[in-house]
Amino acid sequence: MTSHDKPSRYGHLECNSPIAAWRFDRQVEECAAASPQTIVDIGCGWGELLQRVTAKVPGAKAYGIDSDLELLERGRAGAVAKGIADRLEFVEYQGDDWTEPADLVICIGAVHAFGTGTDALRELYKIVKPGGRLLIGDGVWNRVPNEAELAGMWPGTTTGDFLLLPEFVDVAVETGFRPLRVESVEQSEWDDFESQFLADKEVWLLANPSHEKADEIREQTDAHRDWWLRGHRGLLGFAYLTLGRPVA
Ligand SMILES: C[S@@+](CC[C@H](N)C(=O)[O-])C[C@H]1O[C@@H](n2cnc3c(N)ncnc32)[C@H](O)[C@@H]1O
Repeated sequence: MTSHDKPSRYGHLECNSPIAAWRFDRQVEECAAASPQTIVDIGCGWGELLQRVTAKVPGAKAYGIDSDLELLERGRAGAVAKGIADRLEFVEYQGDDWTEPADLVICIGAVHAFGTGTDALRELYKIVKPGGRLLIGDGVWNRVPNEAELAGMWPGTTTGDFLLLPEFVDVAVETGFRPLRVESVEQSEWDDFESQFLADKEVWLLANPSHEKADEIREQTDAHRDWWLRGHRGLLGFAYLTLGRPVA
């Protein structure tokens, strides 16, 4: 909720990654259709997808792992509202320390908990039970940017931060997974995500233009919009891979 004191945090986002409602709904359906009895979401944020999948699979036991206490609280409130708080636990944890295997592992926009996307695929393979699934989401280059293009993106971005989509899938296959679905978002899904991300601050700035923190927040907001519109827009995509681990 936006207050006079500060902008809301993720108040305009249903989940914290670029995805259209129709794609999100389909992912929920497909994850639930495999009837996973154990589910873990690493870097879950408030775990909207995790909540919806858990609600659709009677008896499933689920864990949402994140290092951000405020987001975990939002997740717990969502689980209570859906009547699944007895089956869905939100746990404060560093994602790369989680070792309990599950039938369904989810890791969306949080591969940095492991290093790179390649590191994440290799580590996550170990916690997907044989016969189980991984839904992983991460940025992918539409085209590898040159130095001038990189300079317009958020500070410190390197070409090594992301793979091209075929390379991301290759690493998954080399790790031992088989790809059940490969999808990457449309530009409109990225634009919606960035707009809704910035909306917390923009709405607050409209209501509090002379607040003592307004200059600082305006500067942060303008910088972020530049990294998006003059930086990664069109160059960085976002892919979701639904991967199966063969039975033992
Ligand atoms: C872009 S958000 C994605 C959240 C969620 N998966 C979603 O799609 O809505 C990345 C999340 O990873 C979490 N995170 C980052 N590093 C982590 C770590 N080492 N261990 C656990 N969570 C981490 C952040 O707190 C944040 O909630």
